[in-house]
Amino acid sequence: MRVLVTGGAGYIGSHTVVRLVEDGHEPVVLDSFVNSRPSVIARLEELTGRTIETHSFDLRDVDKTNALLDDGRFDAVIHFAGLKAVGESSQIPLEYYDNNVGSTLVLARAMDRAGVPVLVFSSSATVYGELAPVPYVETHEPLASNNPYGRTKLVQEMLLSDVATAGGPRVALLRYFNPVGAHPSGRIGEDPHGVPNNLMPFIAQVAVGRREQLQVFGNDYPTPDGTPQRDYLHVVDLAEGHVAALEYLSDHPDVVERAWNLGGGHGTSVLEMIAAFESASGRPIPHEVAPRRTGDLAAFWADASRAETELGWRAERSIEQMCADTWRWQSGNPQGYPG
Ligand code: NAD
Ligand code: UFG
Repeated sequence: MRVLVTGGAGYIGSHTVVRLVEDGHEPVVLDSFVNSRPSVIARLEELTGRTIETHSFDLRDVDKTNALLDDGRFDAVIHFAGLKAVGESSQIPLEYYDNNVGSTLVLARAMDRAGVPVLVFSSSATVYGELAPVPYVETHEPLASNNPYGRTKLVQEMLLSDVATAGGPRVALLRYFNPVGAHPSGRIGEDPHGVPNNLMPFIAQVAVGRREQLQVFGNDYPTPDGTPQRDYLHVVDLAEGHVAALEYLSDHPDVVERAWNLGGGHGTSVLEMIAAFESASGRPIPHEVAPRRTGDLAAFWADASRAETELGWRAERSIEQMCADTWRWQSGNPQGYPG
């Protein structure tokens, strides 16, 4: 399949581009580079041994997006493009709604008019909200989120489901849990701009000496060691989940819209993650306990059985592999991508 990958230069998109090529597909990248670097593309070409067709513009540019979809002969789109920092979304909600919902609206219209039949969408476990029982199941209702970022995901899910139900592109809603890790080559990985918001890139930057110490946001949660538990999954597993969903929708024309959780199905605490990273890197991770971060939940993980039954997908890679691959990437690229 010839597949347009919006946000294909980003963390999850770049790993998915590699996987698509490995599975015999032809990915085409569309990215504005608002949160990634053009030098990613050279790494993708190095890893895949082929030229990666790349288009650099903002998905909200209606004319350019329509022209690309009209002429692109795409069989499907995987839509990663968007802003993703939970904290920032409370400070600049308009930017989040404009970029996330706006780009999805422009993309859905362009796909509809060009007749591109299949869309795989990056959603998030944050759509289960604060009250859903753990493990989270796809059938849980009502969906909710406690932050503007999460609410843009909810709106996008509803928008895409409505369009699919009305005969537009059929859609896979992939609800990711906590993606971490890097390609085992160490050539691509997560490269956040500024201070990392998320646990794993922060730990990796402490290990490599870019930051002095990690703050552990709260150790008085009702969990075995008092720190929150999350369902971490390796980004290469996640990339494989996208290809599985793409192939499933292409093989099942009767499936109009469907949500799948992509997670490992168990929780790992902050302190367990620190210990695993210390062991994988051989470096100490100095840390101190700090106050809780607003909006954090104590513990959640996926019931990922629907993805296993229907897509034949499960997260295979261990916490140790996630840490080892992150460390290979971070130690080989202490300052991230060049440029
Ligand atoms: P990322 O920021 O690394 O990648 C997103 C890419 O989209 C970037 O390369 C950015 O430049 C590009 N982009 C943003 N807005 C654009 C626009 N309007 N037009 C064109 N390009 C644009 O993020 P990621 O971690 O790879 O996440 C990918 C998707 O997965 C996002 O939609 C995110 O919300 C979702 N998601 C991520 C996580 C996570 O923990 N990383 C968890 C759940 C869901
Ligand atoms: N944490 C720290 N110190 C840090 C960073 C994080 O202690 O410097 C802790 C957090 O308090 C939390 C855990 O590490 O307990 C994981 O935090 P992350 O920020 O890595 O991940 P979240 O679970 O908060 O958020 C992730 C994604 C969101 C998504 C959410 C729900 O980043 O996009 O999962 O799926 F919305």
